Amino acid sequence: MKNILVIGSTGQIGSELTMKLRREIPGSTVVAGYIPGAEPKGILLESGPAEIADVRDGATLAGIVARYRIDTIYNLAALLSAVAERKPLLAWDIQMNGLLNILEVAREKGCAVFTPSSIGSFGPETPHDGTPQDTIQRPRSMYGVTKVATELLSDYYFHKYGVDTRSVRFPGLISYVTPPGGGTTDYSVEMYYAAVKGEVYTCPIGAGTFMDMMYMADALRAAVQLMEADPARLRHRNAFNIASMSFDPEILAAAIRRQIPSFTFKYDVDPVRQAIANSWPDRLDDRCAREEWDWAPQFDIDRMTTEMIAGLRKKFGIQA
Ligand code: SER
Repeated sequence: MKNILVIGSTGQIGSELTMKLRREIPGSTVVAGYIPGAEPKGILLESGPAEIADVRDGATLAGIVARYRIDTIYNLAALLSAVAERKPLLAWDIQMNGLLNILEVAREKGCAVFTPSSIGSFGPETPHDGTPQDTIQRPRSMYGVTKVATELLSDYYFHKYGVDTRSVRFPGLISYVTPPGGGTTDYSVEMYYAAVKGEVYTCPIGAGTFMDMMYMADALRAAVQLMEADPARLRHRNAFNIASMSFDPEILAAAIRRQIPSFTFKYDVDPVRQAIANSWPDRLDDRCAREEWDWAPQFDIDRMTTEMIAGLRKKFGIQA
């Protein structure tokens, strides 16, 4: 993994993953792929090359891969679950036609490919507590449909053509750098922003709704560690359950109150996001990832909360 293309480099995951790869992989060239309207700025723009890389334009992707001799592609282009329900055809176009373009380029040029799956790849019939690695999926959301298809198509390209595809099922990802947009798990990030700004938060997900969540530092480490793992140990590829914490809005609010006692919130449940959340697992079983590539999270809810509050206070210039 030396010459890397990150597609979606200005998004929630990409903005941090691009910088981590540039910092941590010696001698690497990490190309920040973006779409017009979401241009890289600041350190992301200054620290390495950037190219327009719309997944729906296979010819341009092939040009970038050839020009920079790309060997690894992190494909982070996606519409999240709630926005994909509003724009299902666009979600399909980006997530499926886009993936097909990437896999074809990877097949021709010999690239490894990481395309995240999600807790959203599961559905109402999935066992919700201790969700096994290999189990019934059958999601009801367009986001979930595209994520299951992503897993299958990525495995297909591995088995049929030997393309080195690997992936994880990300939980809801929490960070203070770039906000997510249009996801069902976004409430957790929003709650931190409100708490640090001293605002009362209105939560769209109801009490008692448990979902897997993860601090961004753990999620980025998982992606890089899996792409660097010894392939001989991998019995699974697309995609590994990974987990670090599971909570509902009450538990998150209590963790925030341990550090900001004045924080308050109320509920105004959004039926679309609540229905999606109800169909997703409460807690994944991630033993396969632990056994096959030594996955181990480092952040629990309190350590994450300390970093989130400190990071957001710094970002907004707010004194403790
Ligand atoms: N965080 C995503 C969402 O809520 C799930 O992977 O849509």
